[in-house]
Amino acid sequence: MVGAGAVGATCAQVLAARDYADVVLVDIKEGLPQGKALDINQMGAVLGYEPNVVGSNGYEESAESDVVVITAGVPRTGDMSRDDLVSINEKIVVQVVEAAAVQSPEAILIVVSNPLDAMCHVAKSVSGWPKERVFGMAGILDTARFSTFIAWETGASVKDVTAMVLGGHGDQMVPVVSATTVGGVPVRKLASEDAIQAMVERTAKGGGELVKLLGTSAWYAPGAAAAQMVDAIMLDEKRMLPCTAYLEGEYGIEGLYMGVPVKLGRGGIEEVVELELSEDEQTMLNESADAVREVVGVLTT
Ligand code: NAI
Ligand code: 2OP
Repeated sequence: MVGAGAVGATCAQVLAARDYADVVLVDIKEGLPQGKALDINQMGAVLGYEPNVVGSNGYEESAESDVVVITAGVPRTGDMSRDDLVSINEKIVVQVVEAAAVQSPEAILIVVSNPLDAMCHVAKSVSGWPKERVFGMAGILDTARFSTFIAWETGASVKDVTAMVLGGHGDQMVPVVSATTVGGVPVRKLASEDAIQAMVERTAKGGGELVKLLGTSAWYAPGAAAAQMVDAIMLDEKRMLPCTAYLEGEYGIEGLYMGVPVKLGRGGIEEVVELELSEDEQTMLNESADAVREVVGVLTT
């Protein structure tokens, strides 16, 4: 786990509680990864699991990792958009990927740092690894937000909500209403079109809503979402999850990282799944792709 800040430490904590993996927290801040690792290990004594979490300011301890999660970077503050972060975080992601790849050349890279879709491009070009092993976390988080709002609106358990948010991790993301059900019932049968549109909009602006409340970006749901991807890989679960994958023609999009449903297992992205979208949804996806291309265009990597 590179970056022992809010998201990285939360992800490490969730993974530690799963009790199947060794976790190394790496951060440039002296004392921070070591302190958080110690605290998470001691939490195991209270909650009854036996984690092996190590904190370090270098990468040696992380050698031969199966999965590297990159949460290093600066989070959004105040009125900063995700895209404002691009130049600061690009430099950090370049440095982190170079260092992590030396120690763990066979790893699978999960990028979390923002702007997410652009940082995936940076990670892929710096590592030179195949697209199956370099991808990003955003869709699980965005879908979790949409699912939460649907559960509240319909009064149903969130466990019965099946939703899917595609596209770039920006305000033009695409909550796919046509593929959203509650207990198998299409959401359009359970909520009014106005209510659905309000939930779609709140989801697309979901990151900003949290930044306004917290003064920085969210970490509980993001950390858990990244941990879910680690689980799917490490336990070879073949989960169908929305992840940020490199597209080469799927959904009519070429040479771009975008959020789409994928099959996630020990090989990383084992398949990109193509949903049938409505005309409106495909138009929104194309607009989201344009927004991602704009940010990718300012990268120097
Ligand atoms: P944070 O500030 O709490 O933690 C970031 C950590 O990265 C800090 O501890 C910092 O010392 C470390 N760091 C900075 N440069 C480094 C380097 N070169 N090497 C190693 N560590 C370095 O930030 P937080 O809240 O954990 O967010 C992390 C990133 O994740 C941000 O870019 C944020 O925007 C992004 N994010 C992405 C989400 C997504 O859905 N993809 C959701 C939430 C956050
Ligand atoms: C989020 O969506 C800021 O990307 C971060 O919470």
